[in-house]
Amino acid sequence: MHFEEKIALNKALFSSLYDGEIQCFKSPLKAYRTRAEFSIYHHENGEIFYAMFENKKKIPIEKFSIADEKIQKYMSILLCNLNENLKHKLFGVEFLATKLDLSITLLYHKNIELIAQDLQELATRLNLKLIARSRGKKLVFNGEILRQILNINTKEFLYEFNNDCFIQPNTFINEKMIEWVLSCIENDFRQDLLELYCGYGNFTIALARYFGKVLATEISKKNIEFALENCVLNSIENITFTRLSSEELSQALKKEREFNRLKGVDLDSFKMSHVLVDPPRSGLDLSVVEFIKHYENIIYISCNPISLKENLEILCQSHKISRFAFFDQFVNTPHLECGVYLRKKA
Ligand SMILES: C[S@@+](CC[C@H](N)C(=O)[O-])C[C@H]1O[C@@H](n2cnc3c(N)ncnc32)[C@H](O)[C@@H]1O
Repeated sequence: MHFEEKIALNKALFSSLYDGEIQCFKSPLKAYRTRAEFSIYHHENGEIFYAMFENKKKIPIEKFSIADEKIQKYMSILLCNLNENLKHKLFGVEFLATKLDLSITLLYHKNIELIAQDLQELATRLNLKLIARSRGKKLVFNGEILRQILNINTKEFLYEFNNDCFIQPNTFINEKMIEWVLSCIENDFRQDLLELYCGYGNFTIALARYFGKVLATEISKKNIEFALENCVLNSIENITFTRLSSEELSQALKKEREFNRLKGVDLDSFKMSHVLVDPPRSGLDLSVVEFIKHYENIIYISCNPISLKENLEILCQSHKISRFAFFDQFVNTPHLECGVYLRKKA
């Protein structure tokens, strides 16, 4: 779907809630995608090809110009370097790229222990971070931690994460989203920040210096491990990361429940002026919507306009939308990322 058509459709979707200006951020049309996942098609003559499925039809893929340039380069290099052992029962390949690194995951229907030596040789020859997976088993060659560098308003932030983390699929747009959030809050009276669904600290790390303290939560253990590491990498000391669901942290902040995982965290010491939420496609649970209504300023990042609208219908009873942005994170698809900044009504 073309950008203009997507924008028009989504403007119409939100028109009952907001009639102000919507900022639109376009993505580059090539080399923007950080992840690429392919099926492997085995030809009778022994050759293998990348393939994708569209309407249950297998489409062979030779070039994938929307993927990061490192992914494009290594797609063909990888196929040329797979020996018979490595081709046999290979059914998928996943590429993940950052500005600094690339990792390749090979998916097998067989015992990968038996090809460990071939995998190690491949990783060494191509100087790659290589992962092999099969039926819950995972082998890692040359490490699996990816380093990322984001440029936010001319400042650089460093991140580390791995394949098990949530990763924004378009780095260019990711930087624009973080800059947009900063532009929303720059002239505000700011105290502390509450962040729900923080991942490995993608927004948290870049926002921390604009707040007194930050309390950030996330459900995935791996994400939180990297979030803590990312504080160290960026010499940041004012973030408390907790591994609780947003629903649980809301209960703790409302003093309805206590959690062992919050031992040593003085929740009463936080004076939240802002809350940032970036939930999965399903949007916010109703209990979380009701909870965040108590805060003065809400920044809502969403990858699903439908669930966003449902949540906004409730939030707009207590808050007014002051800024709205569309980010074309998923170019040429119907999907759209949105940013909404809400302020409590007087
Ligand atoms: C859209 S991602 C955003 C992550 C992060 N803000 C970023 O920009 O990379 C949503 C995140 O919410 C986490 N998550 C899913 N359900 C959750 C819940 N109920 N409570 C807290 N975190 C949750 C996921 O693990 C994922 O990291």
